[in-house]
Order: sequence, then structure tokens, then C-alpha cells
Amino acid sequence: MKALIVYDSVYGNTEKIARAIAGAITPSDGVKVLRAGEANPLELAPIDLLIVGSPTHGGRPTPAIQEFLSRIPANALKNVGVTSFDTRFQAKDKGVGIRILVGVIGYAAGRIANTLKGKGGYLAAPPEGFIVEGNEGPLKQGELERAAGWAKGILESKK
Ligand SMILES: Cc1cc2nc3c(=O)[nH]c(=O)nc-3n(C[C@H](O)[C@H](O)[C@H](O)COP(=O)(O)O)c2cc1C
Repeated sequence: MKALIVYDSVYGNTEKIARAIAGAITPSDGVKVLRAGEANPLELAPIDLLIVGSPTHGGRPTPAIQEFLSRIPANALKNVGVTSFDTRFQAKDKGVGIRILVGVIGYAAGRIANTLKGKGGYLAAPPEGFIVEGNEGPLKQGELERAAGWAKGILESKK
């Protein structure tokens, strides 16, 4: 299976999740991990699975991920399984104002998945969020393992 994982990361946490996901996909020779600026949205084929991950910034993916997504041609993801992930802070640790705000603006992963589906992809797994402590991390304990398990679940469902 050919899988491509495209990510952006400011402080390194989303990159760690992307690499944990890649490490869980077997056989590993068909798996590529690229930062958004390195991935050519015009040359995605042939891939079976595209996973796009971003930090959540103001409820949205970063500009680099938004640009990557916007440059994928219409219908380029036909017959490609797609899904997405983001990193985010844990809303329950925040004050009520932030919790309400986050409830309204949402997270990056759902938006990414909708765009990927809009480019013709079929959803291989529901989008997922992974928790960072503070803006710069570290990742909450156990999140790398959860990311690997999430990736293995995608492979199972594609069999
Ligand atoms: C400008 C900025 C805006 C952010 N907005 C949100 C947000 O709306 N919701 C959220 O859950 N986390 C938010 N965060 C926390 C980020 O999700 C966190 O910095 C990110 O997951 C770290 O990933 P990285 O290490 O890959 O950059 C924000 C962080 C920054 C710097």
C-alpha cells in the first residue's frame, strides 16, 4: 500500500505524531512523510492513502496546510482513502471562555477531512485530534502510542 502523510508543525509535536503514524504503517517501504511545503499537490498519484495533519491554529489548519489543500486539483483524490489529524490543547484544562470559544471555532482535523473529501477522496477513518500540553507541547503522555493505534485501525479498515 502506498501511503503519504503530509504535515505541518511549528513546535514539533505534530511532526512527532506524523512520524508515529508513519511508523505504524506496514509494509513501511510504501510510506512517505512530507512537510506541507515539500509535498507537491499536483503529483499525489498513485497513492492509496493520504493522511494530512496540522496544528490547530484558531480552529483551523496552518497556512501551509491550507495552501497544500487548496492546490490539490479537483477530483485528484478519486479512489484515495483520506483522513486527517490535528494537535490541539485540552479544552477541559482551560477557563470557561476558551472552552466556549473552542466549541464554536472547532479544530483543524475536521476541516482538513472535509476538504480532502471535496477533492474526491473517501474517508478511510474519522479525523482525530491529539493533545499537547500548552502551545509548545510536550504531547500529553500516551499520545504517540494512541497515534500509532489510530494508524493501525485505518489499515485494518482498509483490508
Ligand atoms: C497562534 C496559535 C493558535 C492556536 N489556536 C488553537 C486553537 O484554536 N485550538 C487549540 O486547540 N489549540 C490551539 N493552539 C495550540 C496548538 O494546537 C499547539 O500549539 C499545537 O498543537 C502544537 O503543534 P506543533 O508543535 O506541531 O506546532 C494554538 C497555538 C498557536 C501558537
